Amino acid sequence: MFMAENCLKLKKGSSEKIAKRFQKRQGIESINGFKDMLVTITNQTEDYDEVKILTIWEAESAFKDWLNSDVFKEAHQNVKRSNEDEESPILNNKVSTYTIAYKYVQ
Ligand code: HEM
Repeated sequence: MFMAENCLKLKKGSSEKIAKRFQKRQGIESINGFKDMLVTITNQTEDYDEVKILTIWEAESAFKDWLNSDVFKEAHQNVKRSNEDEESPILNNKVSTYTIAYKYVQ
C-alpha cells in the first residue's frame, strides 16, 4: 500500500477554513485503487498553520493515474497560492510519499 501527503503551509488562523474545503469529494473517489483520505490540522504550530491531505492507495500507479486525470485538474483549477493571488492563505505546498508497511483499523 502507498500513501501520498500534500502538506499545505498556510497563513496563521486559516487552517479550519482551508480544511473545510476538503469536505466535498471532487472525483478522487472514482479513481481505481483509491482507498482512504484524511485531512489533518497540525497542533502547536507557531507563526503559520499547517494542513496535510493524506491519501491512501492500493499502489503508487493508482496515485499517478489520479495526478494525470481530469478530476485532479478540475479539483485544482480554482486553487491559488499566495504567490499567484495575495488573498490566498496558501503559502506553499510539499508532497511526500510513503510505503505503508502495516495498517490496522479497529
Ligand atoms: C499546487 C499544489 C496544491 C495545492 C496548493 C493544493 C490545494 C488544494 C485545495 C485548496 C483543494 C480544495 C479544492 C477547493 O477548495 O475547491 C484541493 C483538493 C485536493 N487536493 Fe490539492 N493541492 C495541490 C496539489 C495536490 C497534490 C499533489 C495532492 C496529493 C498528493 C493533493 C491532494 C488533494 C485532494 C485529495 C483533493 C480533493 C480532491 C477530490 O476530492 O477529488 N493536492 N487541493
